[in-house]
Amino acid sequence: MTFRYIGSKARLTTPLEQAIEAFDDGSGRFVDAFSGTGAVSELAASLGWPIWANDALESAIVMTSARLASKADIRMEQLGGYLGAIDRLNRLRPIQGAMWRTYSPASVQFDAEGIERRYFTEKNAGAIDAIRAQIVSWVENGLLTPREEQLLICDLISAANRVANIAGTYGCFLSKWQNAAHSPLVMLPRELKAESVELETTVADVADLRPAPDDLVYLDPPYTKRQYASYYHILETIAVGDDPDVEGVSGLRPWKNKASAFCYKTKALDALVSLVERMPSRRVLISYSCEGHVDLGDLCAALQRTGRVECTPIQGVGRYRPNRMASANGNSVTEYILSFMRAEDKFESKRLRLGARYGLQELAT
Ligand SMILES: C[S@@+](CC[C@H](N)C(=O)[O-])C[C@H]1O[C@@H](n2cnc3c(N)ncnc32)[C@H](O)[C@@H]1O
Repeated sequence: MTFRYIGSKARLTTPLEQAIEAFDDGSGRFVDAFSGTGAVSELAASLGWPIWANDALESAIVMTSARLASKADIRMEQLGGYLGAIDRLNRLRPIQGAMWRTYSPASVQFDAEGIERRYFTEKNAGAIDAIRAQIVSWVENGLLTPREEQLLICDLISAANRVANIAGTYGCFLSKWQNAAHSPLVMLPRELKAESVELETTVADVADLRPAPDDLVYLDPPYTKRQYASYYHILETIAVGDDPDVEGVSGLRPWKNKASAFCYKTKALDALVSLVERMPSRRVLISYSCEGHVDLGDLCAALQRTGRVECTPIQGVGRYRPNRMASANGNSVTEYILSFMRAEDKFESKRLRLGARYGLQELAT
């Protein structure tokens, strides 16, 4: 499979588990504010947390919801159950819809500049159109709950990822067809969880979230210039189910209203610090990379104005205090978790701010 979600924490769950458990006092929800694929929401759910998952992209929330779906959430009784619904979707004949017109070689007939896009074969793009249209019709006829709809859309996204003619992301398509792209698109059922998870989801800019003081907030922002809204634009169109006017060789849907501040070197530090400062939650965990826009030393220094920060490498050895030098040397350590505990009262907060301002470590840490 060539698809990859940039920054997914699927392979870093063991160290993240330790960080989450260290902050567990039995209260609050786990707020996965940049949920992406939902790998960390799934981890926190397995540790017993109620989950609030948020992302700016609908496609990310669809992936997260499907990942946490349990047998109790998914009935689809009038469709012969989950397996029956998947079977019916796999039997549909391709249709000539938006995916076929825009992202298969058929685009050459419809694009104003005659661009031929090779993201999917015509047959597979038509199959995506047929399946997406059937899901819409089932929803309109009251045959799917919102949770069931998200699950089937996510299964369609996974099926599309298996046959997409890409090198990892949807930023561009490959000019030569890969073998996998010629395989027929097939919907595969996933294993559903035995236990239900308490899940709330939102599609919103992180700056608009208002978690409670008791919530544990997990921040895993983008750390390079790669904008998820453009790198995964086709998945967003499948999730939203619209037919937008697209632009350029890769057929980008309008995405600039979803451009993330964290992807700009000049804005990322301020955006992250003000986010943490404005959130009322006492406990915040941040994933970041020493290869990202924000210098980890600067980030820790800024956060120390309002709370206590501990920075732990999660690839590599030992506890580590980041600074510019260490980042520049770029040893094997790349990913870090910052554990932030907000100062309890005004006096402590003032003491930390003064300590950070005058570089007095004994005051600030
Ligand atoms: C590094 S990924 C998160 C990966 C996730 N933890 C996982 O394991 O799959 C960053 C996510 O942040 C989302 N994002 C970027 N800017 C955002 C914003 N301002 N508000 C909410 N979500 C945002 C992106 O859509 C992307 O899914």
